[in-house]
Amino acid sequence: MITGKTKLYGIIADPIGHVRAPMLFNPLFAERGVDAVMVPFHVKPEKLKAWADGLRATENFGGIVITVPHKLEIAKLCDELGTAGRLIGAINALRRDPDGRLIGDMFDGKGFVAGMRHQGFEVTGKRILLLGAGGAARAIAFELAAEGCERLTIQNRTMVKAEELAAAVKSAYPKVDVRAGSDDPAGHDTIVNSTSLGLKPGDPLPMDVSRLTPDMLVAEIIMDPVETPLLQAAKQRGCPVHYGRHMLDQQILLLADFLRVGK
Ligand code: ATR
Repeated sequence: MITGKTKLYGIIADPIGHVRAPMLFNPLFAERGVDAVMVPFHVKPEKLKAWADGLRATENFGGIVITVPHKLEIAKLCDELGTAGRLIGAINALRRDPDGRLIGDMFDGKGFVAGMRHQGFEVTGKRILLLGAGGAARAIAFELAAEGCERLTIQNRTMVKAEELAAAVKSAYPKVDVRAGSDDPAGHDTIVNSTSLGLKPGDPLPMDVSRLTPDMLVAEIIMDPVETPLLQAAKQRGCPVHYGRHMLDQQILLLADFLRVGK
């Protein structure tokens, strides 16, 4: 039951109808016996600043989860950013501290790494080929480097984006061997697909799968379908695979911790 003591959480988006965070967080609150609720906020980009001021002013607000199109602009409105949020320039969660300060950070990359570890796959010391250089790739690339992968090769259809991302990651983490390169997986232990290829039926494969060998782990961030054509092809070639849903499963727990759920 929602009472005067219930702590408020939100998800902000435009459009809003598709968001899933309330269905993930409200059961978590119930499971943990926490008096809190997460509701959707439909906010237009031009009203974001006014909305953030309202958030600062609301004493019983715990924080929000952020999705398209607000991830970049809301980062600029925060009083403090975590390392990932600062490097990436975008956030997907924001906590309101009791003094009204807004603290933001990005958890897509952390969720991916935590999901891998939860399944027994390490990223530290690994040579990783990252397919894609969009928003998700950016978060994952910085986190893989932060966790000390040995090599990070970034491949993308639009190669200039891969080059820009590689340069940004290299400048933040000079010890990591970061470069833009081809989709040839030779010399890599792990391949991560962060492109949107595989979401729609009939999408081409994001790489030449005939080059995969059974010592290579192939990881997806696409959750639906569960078995993307890339994962099917990787399995056929004897590769271990890592499913997209693990990133979200672990990210929810990280977000709950960051948002101080139950604290
Ligand atoms: P997200 O926020 O989910 O990462 P995004 O930022 O739009 O979404 O990034 C989508 C990624 O999938 C990009 O790497 C994109 O490549 P481009 O940068 O060249 O656009 C990649 N992608 C999307 N459609 C593709 C296609 N048909 N072939 C190859 N790559 C594609």
